[in-house]
Amino acid sequence: MQLRFAVLEDLPAVNVLRRQVNELHVTGRPETFKAGFPPELEHHVYTVFHDPDQKILVAEEDGQLCGFAVLHQIRRPETPFMYERRFLDVDEFGVAPAFRRRGVGRALIDRAKAWAKEQGFDRLELNMWEFNRDALAFYEAVGFQTYRRYLEIPL
Ligand SMILES: CC(C)(COP(=O)(O)OP(=O)(O)OC[C@H]1O[C@@H](n2cnc3c(N)ncnc32)[C@H](O)[C@@H]1OP(=O)(O)O)[C@@H](O)C(=O)NCCC(=O)NCCS
Repeated sequence: MQLRFAVLEDLPAVNVLRRQVNELHVTGRPETFKAGFPPELEHHVYTVFHDPDQKILVAEEDGQLCGFAVLHQIRRPETPFMYERRFLDVDEFGVAPAFRRRGVGRALIDRAKAWAKEQGFDRLELNMWEFNRDALAFYEAVGFQTYRRYLEIPL
């Protein structure tokens, strides 16, 4: 398996994976996520690609793009409550169904960690939806710990 940052020509294949992740979110939380894969959502990956603060890491096996991670460099200035914060946020993440449970996700996170360190970040972060128990099991298996929660009361 090869890990590298995406080039422009990869983006249609990245969108195939993004669409799968979006469908999972629509199924799990239909009141929040818009069904389908409208042009705005398809095009969003190009905005990400051209943003100097974001990188798209991809995994490729036998010429097929089998996983991706959108890595966003975040700098939050100091506030009256908090010190300045700098972290690498994993904004979008997915592995093609046929390639799951073969270490692709772990390899992407390992590479993201190494790159974050090189860039001088001391932390990787992400947020996820509570219904996605498989993703939580994965994230915990690769070392993420919950440090903050969103709570709601549906009315
Ligand atoms: C979550 C996801 C990225 C994991 O990718 P993956 O390549 O299958 O993960 P790995 O093979 O590297 O798994 C590493 C470890 O994580 C854990 N893990 C992975 N998937 C799991 C699952 N479905 N259930 C329980 N544990 C899981 C296991 O401990 C696994 O090690 P093992 O296979 O030796 O038991 C993949 O299932 C996926 O794309 N899911 C749909 C999209 C998604 O939920 N994205 C995240 C949105 S926030």
